[in-house]
Amino acid sequence: MEKQIFSSSISPLSIVQMNDVFASYDSKNYVLQNIRMSIQRGTNYAIVGQSGSGKSTLLKLINGMMNPSNGTVKVNYQTPNFHEKSFKKFIAKIGYIPQNLGLVKNTTVLENVMIGALPRLGAFKSFFKIFPDKEIADAYNILKMVGLDDKAERKTYMLSGGERRRVAIARALMQKPDLLLADEIVSELDHVTAIEIMDIISDAQKKFELTSIMVHHDMNLALEYANRVAVIKKGEKILEIGVEGDEIVDFQTGNLTQKEILEQYNESEK
Ligand SMILES: Nc1ncnc2c1ncn2[C@@H]1O[C@H](COP(=O)(O)OP(=O)(O)OP(=O)(O)O)[C@@H](O)[C@H]1O
Ligand SMILES: [Mg+2]
Repeated sequence: MEKQIFSSSISPLSIVQMNDVFASYDSKNYVLQNIRMSIQRGTNYAIVGQSGSGKSTLLKLINGMMNPSNGTVKVNYQTPNFHEKSFKKFIAKIGYIPQNLGLVKNTTVLENVMIGALPRLGAFKSFFKIFPDKEIADAYNILKMVGLDDKAERKTYMLSGGERRRVAIARALMQKPDLLLADEIVSELDHVTAIEIMDIISDAQKKFELTSIMVHHDMNLALEYANRVAVIKKGEKILEIGVEGDEIVDFQTGNLTQKEILEQYNESEK
């Protein structure tokens, strides 16, 4: 089978495109360097790397929370920018689950999920949190999907870690997203719960035809669920791999053998 080789030109199918991206928090040290990334619509994409390698920063570049110091980032063919009217429209379609989940602790599960609907309500309804019945019915359907419909009225601080993650997923799905960004949503969970959460996301991805970009610590989990896995080391993308049949293949250059991929990957763990 012909391997797909990475190209730096903008693909008509890409939802995220990064060309030669550098990012810095202090305009001195780059925390990301030379990042080239092309993510096609419908892909289940994973980013793995050691702590501090720049994974969360990558997600922040995609949702416009941060601008690159150099290079270009295009999301849905636009430069992510909170102040740009056209991007604001699309940002409502990015379901971003931050590393700390960003739940409002002292409010109920349902209220947290309804936050996902706010961008599509008018300013008045949004301010007074007036939700049409249809939106509430949708929220209950989504809570059912994530297995929390019986806990809709519970305050989120009373939930387990796995349940809190389900709320964050439900809030993101309530946005009716085109793109789902999840930052280490299954880290620190036991394996069984992690698989349950990954299955929920995988089912939602198929049902709503989303593109998902998930940051992981666990390479095995990433390879099990993702079509493509980018490995980040000290701010650089050193590999982009995926599974075809029984083989791990190199999508970044198209040249590496499975043995070379594993050697590079093991090196990246050091
Ligand atoms: N707000 C910030 N201000 C300054 N430096 C930051 C900030 N956020 C992150 N950094 C630095 O940028 C680098 C990359 O951080 P980032 O959070 O992207 O890593 P990560 O791969 O997500 O790590 P982890 O797995 O621990 O979440 C680190 O060296 C970190 O210290
Ligand atoms: Mg992080």
